[in-house]
Amino acid sequence: MNNIQRDDASKYDSKSTLCLTLNLFISRQDIDAMLLLLRRCRRLTAGLSPAQAQRARPAASPAPSWCGVGGGSRSSSGGGEDRQTAQDPRWRPALAGLLVGTGAVLAYGLHHHKAEQPLAPMEPALPVFSQAEVSKHGSLEAGVWVTFRGGVYDITDFVAMHPGGDKILLAAGGALEPFWALYAVHSQDHVLDILSEYKVGELDPEDQARQRAVEPSDPYSGDPQRHPVLRVNSAKPFNGEPPPELLGDSYITPSAIFFKRNHLPVPRVDPASYRLRVEGLPRPLSLSLADLKSRFPKHTVTATLQCAGNRRSEMNAVKQVKGLNWGIAAISNATWSGALLRDVLREGGWGPEAAAAAAAAGRGARHVQFEGLDADASGTTYGASIPLNKALSEEGDVLLAYQMNGEDLPADHGYPLRVVVPGTVGARNVKWLGKVIVSREESSSHWQQNDYKGFSPGTDWDTVDFKSAPAIQELPVQSAITQPADGAVLERDADGEVTVRGYAWSGGGREVVRVDVSLDGGKTWQVARLREGEEQGEEQGEAPPPLPGRAWAWKLWEVVAPLPPGEQQVEIVCKAVDNSYNMQPDSVAPIWNLRGVLSNAWHRVRVTVRED
Ligand code: MTE
Repeated sequence: MNNIQRDDASKYDSKSTLCLTLNLFISRQDIDAMLLLLRRCRRLTAGLSPAQAQRARPAASPAPSWCGVGGGSRSSSGGGEDRQTAQDPRWRPALAGLLVGTGAVLAYGLHHHKAEQPLAPMEPALPVFSQAEVSKHGSLEAGVWVTFRGGVYDITDFVAMHPGGDKILLAAGGALEPFWALYAVHSQDHVLDILSEYKVGELDPEDQARQRAVEPSDPYSGDPQRHPVLRVNSAKPFNGEPPPELLGDSYITPSAIFFKRNHLPVPRVDPASYRLRVEGLPRPLSLSLADLKSRFPKHTVTATLQCAGNRRSEMNAVKQVKGLNWGIAAISNATWSGALLRDVLREGGWGPEAAAAAAAAGRGARHVQFEGLDADASGTTYGASIPLNKALSEEGDVLLAYQMNGEDLPADHGYPLRVVVPGTVGARNVKWLGKVIVSREESSSHWQQNDYKGFSPGTDWDTVDFKSAPAIQELPVQSAITQPADGAVLERDADGEVTVRGYAWSGGGREVVRVDVSLDGGKTWQVARLREGEEQGEEQGEAPPPLPGRAWAWKLWEVVAPLPPGEQQVEIVCKAVDNSYNMQPDSVAPIWNLRGVLSNAWHRVRVTVRED
């Protein structure tokens, strides 16, 4: 790009000039895509609060109609000498064009190539920054710094110019990798070249190696590092959820952004000495990780996990409940790979004959219990159980998973092994799995017996009897709006339309067949488009169309709808229907319960519409 001549941002409103200027990089068709993107960009900015929108448009930007293209003033935070090209105003229009061109490619999702090669070799002159220093640069005001493959980048100007810059802002102070996993088009050589222009230093090798200071008194000191984009509902134990607008943009949730729900410290498990014990079988088993990988066929399932407490904050708004104040993102979707639990139980001799013999001897097994390796101070481990028929069913797809999204399970998600019970509440998907027991009784664990159960709105802590209610297994039908955000301010543009996006899912393998969306608080409705093909992961092989009764993964949906004319306050509502014609209840109060679980009322977001 160094041979691009200075150009005026004002010239960019002609498609041909733009093509000329950027002919090294993009085609004329891309320009149409860019214009499309700019519209999206405007909508994104419009979706921000006035304060956010102000920040997203740097004062110095000479071309606000380009969503900040033209560059803002770079923060003076350290080490910028060798960033001449990016800082020199002569290069900004060209760079801006290139970035928008990149965005155009993003819009069409043309490339999926993952460039794994390292960026430009380390400049000896570049300073070394600690993660703490990087974390201070978390806003346009303080400068936007990110880390990527061991480098530190000041992308303040980039954010101002980049379509969807508000989303990049979410990475500020942290690592870029999970964002570029979401927006995979960035993993291309020319994008990495652009990024290298913004390099200001190296990340401290100690931070890179993530050598955590060990505080023996703190049982959480061994917990892994988490991405700062996660909204933390509790730090110890760690519980965090991604921002909804990221969740709804990607069919597969990158592991770093996947919601994390821990009751205890994350255990460190040595994969070399790890053993899974399987009991309650004619032949008890003790399996190493290598055994699990080599002795059983590897199966991959795309499945959504949802915490029973997802959307608890809406119950809290009715009346205070006990539990973490989850928003709408205690739900995520991933591919999981491992051995089928069914195959492992059969290896231990469990089959129709063994079941019949056990029943005849009065030991009929009905449950499969799981014990985690995470323990509290008294040594009590996390545990849960599922019905045995779910585990044995050929169509149950219950996995002893050692991979998530094609890689070893991350520490937070159960490394080295977890059970994945598709269609079943997150609580039964036990992480850091130590033991499997086929048994007559359910797990005696607190989380099976005295938690994760539903009650009447009339039941309070004085009257509740946990024994009276069944443990939650399959979850009810659910949907929520991920865009626009509650409280967003939308500009009414010439089209007068708004794009509403979200997720929908139902437990027990029931497929979501329809999502209804209302823009007037539920008086009138239209049917959303269930995203398909590539958007729904089908072309990447992540999600073949679900088999009947085995719809384990969510559906992302979208509707572009006219904003009600003349209205400044609009209530957008969604509700999903599954293939058993289960529908979400219309309001929270009648399903309120003291633990705030099973919160699946119509989801409502209120937005303000500003006239142009
Ligand atoms: N397994 C163990 N061993 N310990 C836990 O705290 N939390 C459960 C389940 N499995 C938990 C566990 C709960 S309540 C949920 S919702 C899911 O894990 C969350 O899985 P995730 O953190 O991979 O999203």
